[in-house]
Amino acid sequence: MPIIAPSLLSADFLNLQKDCTMLNESDADWFHLDVMDGSFVPNISFGFPIIEKVRKATTKICDVHLMILEPGKYAEAFKKAGADILTVHIEACPHLHRNIQQIKGLGMRAGVALNPHTPVSLLLDIIDDVDMVCLMSVNPGFGGQQFIPNTINKIRALKHLIKDKGLHTLIEIDGGVTLENAPAILHAGADVLVAGNTVFKSDDPQATIAALKSL
Ligand code: DX5
Ligand code: ZN
Repeated sequence: MPIIAPSLLSADFLNLQKDCTMLNESDADWFHLDVMDGSFVPNISFGFPIIEKVRKATTKICDVHLMILEPGKYAEAFKKAGADILTVHIEACPHLHRNIQQIKGLGMRAGVALNPHTPVSLLLDIIDDVDMVCLMSVNPGFGGQQFIPNTINKIRALKHLIKDKGLHTLIEIDGGVTLENAPAILHAGADVLVAGNTVFKSDDPQATIAALKSL
């Protein structure tokens, strides 16, 4: 069964308690938290105060996706705020190996995210060290965008790489995931589905999460 990670970016920011309770009582596995700095991506989202509050309100795993430059400066603060998984972008990390070791040393699971144009082959010498690869299936920065079809090829290539090396690295797909395209995404080899608009803009978010979970 896939891991379902609804994205807070599409939640009701005036009613986060309500959405946290809804997720706690759903089949969701993780809570995906998108942090944007206005430099690495053309948008600014939220930071530590929100993550700290969500950590207190949710029983789920906090999966923090950093779309920021120099993530190493803040890794410890994200741990303190309550991150269980911390994902950094390969494009933002000239010293990715160091960043990954730092995250794991702080007691979090470490993820690396790839933008749509970044080839999976760049992971060859880091894949053994990471717990999860997040393939961006939209250009990061905003919720509610269209899934980029080439992501399916990237999932297949990444799955091969992981299998060839005998690893158990999780593959997370982030952006434009719907009930319609999720079966193909899972069939290609994905383990974790991030879903923002698909969950929060649906009439019955808990039923939508259950439907994704049962795929
Ligand atoms: C995009 C974020 C995503 C976003 C997904 O930059 O990383 O996590 O919240 O939203 P949807 O599922 O609406 O595309
Ligand atoms: Zn994300």
